Order: sequence, then C-alpha cells, then structure tokens
Amino acid sequence: MRLKTDFLVVGTGVAGLSFALKAAEKGKVIIVAKSSMEEGSTKYAQGGIAAVMYQPDTYQKHIQDTIIAGDELCNEEIVRLTITESTERVKELIEWGTKFDKNPDGTYKLGREGGHSENRVLHSKDQTGTEIERALVHQVKMHPNIQILENHFAVDLITQHHLGQPTSRKAGGIKCFGVYFLNPNNQKVITILSKITLLATGGVGSVYDSTTNPVIATGDGIAMAYRARCTVENMEFIQFHPTALYTPLEKPAFLITEALRGFGARLCNQKGEYFMSRYDERADLAPRDIVARAIDQEMKISGAEHVYLDATFLNGRELVESFPGIYAKCLSHGIDIRRQKIPVRPAAHYSCGGIKVNQWAQSSIENLYASGEVASTGLHGANRLASNSLLEALVFSHRAFVDSANRIQNIEFEHKIPDWNDEGMRLNEELILITQSLKEVQSIMSNYVGIVRSDLRLERALRRLRLIFEETEALFDVSILNTQLCELRNVINVAYVIIKMAKDRRENRGLHYSIDNIKE
Ligand code: FAD
Ligand code: SIN
Repeated sequence: MRLKTDFLVVGTGVAGLSFALKAAEKGKVIIVAKSSMEEGSTKYAQGGIAAVMYQPDTYQKHIQDTIIAGDELCNEEIVRLTITESTERVKELIEWGTKFDKNPDGTYKLGREGGHSENRVLHSKDQTGTEIERALVHQVKMHPNIQILENHFAVDLITQHHLGQPTSRKAGGIKCFGVYFLNPNNQKVITILSKITLLATGGVGSVYDSTTNPVIATGDGIAMAYRARCTVENMEFIQFHPTALYTPLEKPAFLITEALRGFGARLCNQKGEYFMSRYDERADLAPRDIVARAIDQEMKISGAEHVYLDATFLNGRELVESFPGIYAKCLSHGIDIRRQKIPVRPAAHYSCGGIKVNQWAQSSIENLYASGEVASTGLHGANRLASNSLLEALVFSHRAFVDSANRIQNIEFEHKIPDWNDEGMRLNEELILITQSLKEVQSIMSNYVGIVRSDLRLERALRRLRLIFEETEALFDVSILNTQLCELRNVINVAYVIIKMAKDRRENRGLHYSIDNIKE
C-alpha cells in the first residue's frame, strides 16, 4: 500500500499533535502512532509546563534558571527564544481546551520544581500530561484535514538511499521523501510519501531497565534518523529522575513528581537523615542531576536499594488534594503518604540529546523536522530544567510549522521510491530471543552507563553490545518484520550512540559523570 500526504507526522504526543493542528490549515496531514493515540510520555507528565505568567517572574529569571540547570552547555539564543515564546504557546494550549489549576481569584496556580527560582509551573493537579493530551487529541480528531493511523510502526526514513544512491553524514545533501511503516496486524510494510516529515517520536527510556517512560519509548525516531545519516548529538545526557516509586517489578516505574518536593516534601536516607543540604545549598530543590547523584551516593553508602521521600509532616488534606494520583498509587501499594515515607530511587527519565535541529526545528536532512523529546534543540544543555520539555515541544512544533508552511509549495513528491521488499524473508518464530536480547541491553545500560560512569564500564558496555548488535542485524536481514525486532534494533542503535558519546565526553558536565573525568 502507498499513501501520499503534504505533512507526515510521526508521533501523537504534545509535539506531534500541536504541529498537526497547525499544519492541517495548510495541507493534508497524516499523523501516526505506534500504539494507541494517547500512549506516550506526554500522557504521563505530572509536574506541569514551565512558563512565565506573572510578576515577580520574568523571562530573564527563567532563562537564567535554564542555563544554570544546563550546566552552561545550553545554546543561549535557543533558550532565549524558547522562554520568550512560552507565554504565547501556553495560551494557545489553553485555547485548545487544556484546563490548568486556578486560584480562587482566577489566576493560574503555579508550582515550583527543582532549579526554578520562581513558582512558574502550570499544572493540572498531578496529571498535567493527561489533560494536555486529552485536549489536543480531541482537537485533532475533529479536524477534517488530519488522517490518524494508530498501531503503525515507523521502520525507516525514506531517502536517496532507497533509490540506490549512497548517502553520507559528512557529505550531507540527504533528502527525506517519507517513511516506511509496519502494520503489525498483517505484518505488511506500507510506504507513505510526504513533502514534509516531522519526527515527534519521544524518548528513549526503554534503553534502561528502570524508567519512568512508557514501554513504547524505545528511541525509534533517533535510531531511524541515525541510520539515515542524520546528525544526532548530546546523547550522553540521559536524565535520571531522582524520585521514581520503588516498586522494582513494575514497568514503567511510577513517577513521584518533583512538584511534591516543591510543595515541601524532603528526601531522607535509611537513618531518617534529610541529606540533600549536605550536597547542595538548594537542598531538595537542586537541579535533577545533583539530586539523582546524591541519592545514588546515599544508596551506595547504606547498601539499600532506595531512599525515602518524606511528606508526612505536610498538611495531609492539601497533600491529597494537590497530588491525588500519587496518593492513590502509593495507597495501592499500601503506603499512605500522609503517614508513611515513600520509598524512591532514580530511574531513566528524559533524553536531553537527540536529533540535532536548528531554531526552526530543521534536522540535517532536508524536509525532515524534529520536535519534542526526540530533538536536540540546544535548550537543555547538559541537564534539562524540570517542566521545560512540554514547553520546548510546543515552541519547536510551532517553529517547524512556520518554516515548513513557507517551504512546502516548492517541494515535490519523489514517486520513484520503491515499496518495501520482503521477498524471501521468513517468519520469525523465536520471539523469546528478541525479548531476552532486549533485557540484556537494558541490563548492560543500567549497570554500566547509568548515573555514575567510568571508562572501564563504558568499554565493557560497548563490547557486550557489539555481540547483541551482530546477532540482531543477522536476524533483521532474513526476517519478515515485527515490532519487537524493530524496537530491539532501535534500542541497540540508541544504546550504541549513548555509549559512544559518553566515551567522547572527557569532562563531567550536568548529567554525564565519570569517575575517570574527576580532576585532582
Ligand atoms: P511522546 O509524548 O512520548 O509521544 C511519542 C509519540 O511517538 C507516541 O505517539 C508514539 O506512538 C509515537 N512513536 C514513537 N515511535 C514510533 C514509531 N516507531 N512509529 C510510530 N509512532 C511512533 N515534561 C515536562 O515538561 N513536565 C512534566 O511534568 C513532565 N513529567 C513527566 C512525567 C513522566 C512520567 C514522563 C515519562 C515524562 C515527563 N516529562 C515532563 C517529559 C515529557 O512528558 C516528554 O518529554 C514529552 O511529553 C514528550 O512529548 P513528545 O511529543 O516528544 O513524545
Ligand atoms: C516531574 O513532575 O517531576 C517531572 C517533570 C519533568 O520531567 O519535567
């Protein structure tokens, strides 16, 4: 099967949906999700979206906080434009029907999270993402110019490579003509040709064995782009959220929002000591890289598998009212957060790097844009400031729209693209081998490429990964495609890029910390 569209959007989180709504005013849009439309990290966002709304907050303060959290590796121009566009983008989200919590006087309630010098996080209790996703999905479903394809898996970007012409990262000049998608129901691959393609495929959490991300976060967009010779950067900066609920058998790990610390909750160790002020003067509200490393250190000292988040001294009624989702979830595990401390430990949460894009969300491949967690815009530097990612997605999807709408009339379809060829391929009946390989990669990444790294650990990870890579490529070359195999291949690709970039960074910056980079 073959489809054609002006705008092809891969991903139905905040980045994909907000772009689709705008692009649909200029042409035909096809938007695709690998699972159901609502599933993705956006739905799970808790704390909220950072934006400058009222005095005494200012753009300058938010800019400064972002740069400090990013450990001075942010692109200052990108920080400035993202933050100064924040108010407008958030207002648009509200016009699309998103409901944020308000004070009795009608102003928005603004929460505080780590690294923020002011209260500036708009939220919807502790279920902000669900509310944003609800509003956007509703709008998209009503739009006559948008065709939605759920349960279709993007396998590879289509470039000149598929016309038999060699492509190279260095030489550039690569063009994107669309995407091949697998329909897992009949195991057929369809071709979608597009003038403009936006990758909005979200994050990479499933590269690790403990993550707050939904299991579908297998880094597909980054892997596809990397294979198509697109520039990918900063992948060593994987953000571990300090406080995932300690329930080792549960996937994904349930997040305990940082907003709870903004509300007053404090981290303590097994002895009941509030330890954060020993590590940073901002204590429990220090940026995430610092808090996660402090917890890691406390766990190493005590030998325990978690620390605690203590909210027992806060007003119980207000606590339940503000964090109903967390209250209910903990209670389902027998923990009443009004009376008992919450066992927590860090879990892989966010990829600060990704597909390198410019200020208009353009990647290094012509007609290919990227927005949301899949992209590396320069906003986050070496460590993302809490609640800046929903904002980044809105700002860069808007910019991708503005730029692509200006260019689309000069772009033609490439009709000579061949359909996917699976002649002679065989059905893969050993799915268990794929599951096993995935677990192996996740364990390698968690054991050797986690919060604290070393040259030895990274070398070891790379050696072990190589074997799994060779086995998986051999399988891929002879198999009729299935989602699990494609995801495994992508996870291996992304793991490789993370390790490679971690090995190349010879300094401790933000989220990348190696014992071999410590200066005497
Ligand atoms: P997602 O929302 O992850 O959507 C990805 C989309 O891509 C999905 O539709 C998926 O189906 C599709 N897709 C992926 N691969 C394929 C493929 N191969 N083929 C077809 N479709 C594909 N950020 C904040 O700013 N504030 C918060 O409070 C906050 N809280 C968070 C809490 C949790 C638990 C998590 C996990 C993250 C949180 N974040 C938060 C981060 C933020 O939610 C994400 O970075 C953001 O939602 C990503 O949006 P996105 O549109 O890029 O991708
Ligand atoms: C949280 O609510 O703690 C997550 C916020 C974020 O990841 O930005």
